[in-house]
Amino acid sequence: MKPRTRVNHPPQTVFPAGRRALVSPIYQSVKFELEDLAATERVWSGREPGFHYSRVGNPTVSELEELLAELQGREACIATGSGIAAVALALIAFLSAGDHVVGFIETYGPTRALLSKTLGRFGVTHELVSLHDIAAVEHALSRVKTRVVWFESPTNPMLKIADVEAICRLSHDHGALVMLDNTLAGLEAHAQFPIDVYVHSLTKSANGHGDVMGGAIIASQQLIDQVRMQANVFGPALDPHAAFLILRGLRTYHIRRAAQCASAQKIAEWLALHPRVARVHYPGLESHPSHQLAREQMTDFGSVVTVDLKGDPEHSRRFADGLTLFSSVASLGSTESLIVPPQLQQPQGLTKDQVLLSSVLPTTSRLSIGLEDPDDLIADLETALTSAFAPNE
Ligand SMILES: Cc1ncc(COP(=O)(O)O)c(C=O)c1O
Repeated sequence: MKPRTRVNHPPQTVFPAGRRALVSPIYQSVKFELEDLAATERVWSGREPGFHYSRVGNPTVSELEELLAELQGREACIATGSGIAAVALALIAFLSAGDHVVGFIETYGPTRALLSKTLGRFGVTHELVSLHDIAAVEHALSRVKTRVVWFESPTNPMLKIADVEAICRLSHDHGALVMLDNTLAGLEAHAQFPIDVYVHSLTKSANGHGDVMGGAIIASQQLIDQVRMQANVFGPALDPHAAFLILRGLRTYHIRRAAQCASAQKIAEWLALHPRVARVHYPGLESHPSHQLAREQMTDFGSVVTVDLKGDPEHSRRFADGLTLFSSVASLGSTESLIVPPQLQQPQGLTKDQVLLSSVLPTTSRLSIGLEDPDDLIADLETALTSAFAPNE
């Protein structure tokens, strides 16, 4: 064999039977060769499990999918290249022209845009109600036959808590599928409820290191089979290298999350007593209007703390600029702390009344608490608050 041929057919290490790598290798391959044509036909047609093409399935991605389904307490999962790809795929897989969705004013902005600007073009209608208005949910469901109820808890960025049991009961009574974006709540959260479809952005605390994007849809095998058919023609597949990094991130997920939630609680309590702070939104605070509900239905209170400063938006801008340990960037759940100041936080595409109901103020900042020492973070917050409100600045 000439060198030019050999480099395209390199030798492959085969482990002797009974040996294995403790950390699974990355199957960075698009194609998988089967022993003969008959086997290839069986796998291609889905009559036999196996891998043939990574858009459809890949062993590294599959390992991640199995783990995520187990953590969420459901049968199956499909991983995607980003969280919003998972949101889009979950909705597209179950909606057709003429179907109706009930969502919430507090729903993540790009998901609302997907409902109004994208799915709206294909004849899917939707209505947004306020998360705390259960009577409005019931009213919306009894007025229009609804295919999907879509919600988040806690919401991003105001950390409102949904009454998950009531939403599931009402939705199912009216024959709708219940879909929950569980990104802020965590990978095991809300498993005790009869949610039909869970969606996660793995970009956040699942991977946790701010260096890779991913998403997941988790449900019964039957529902995931339906989603997978759509995934095969839409192609939002997660890359195996990204799956490997997320699997590595997950090894420290519980330890990271516990430390970040503990720091978030400490920081929320400190901010709540600060004279420059108008209001702190954190479900772990007893002052949070749904603290008791959060305690009953969540696995932890999360690593995001939202704060309304006193003063005007310019004070909040100076506060964000004055922080040295919090970067002003739009993500959450990473090892380093982040802030989204009000100038980058205002909801788009809502009416004035809906903005009021969303509770986002022109002085609202969202903090994502990282793995730094919480005392250093508090010192940084104190310095930035002092300089933001210093006279003559
Ligand atoms: C609640 C929620 N869902 C979905 C997403 C989208 O995830 P990704 O950025 O991985 O596409 C985000 C991102 O911030 C989010 O906060």
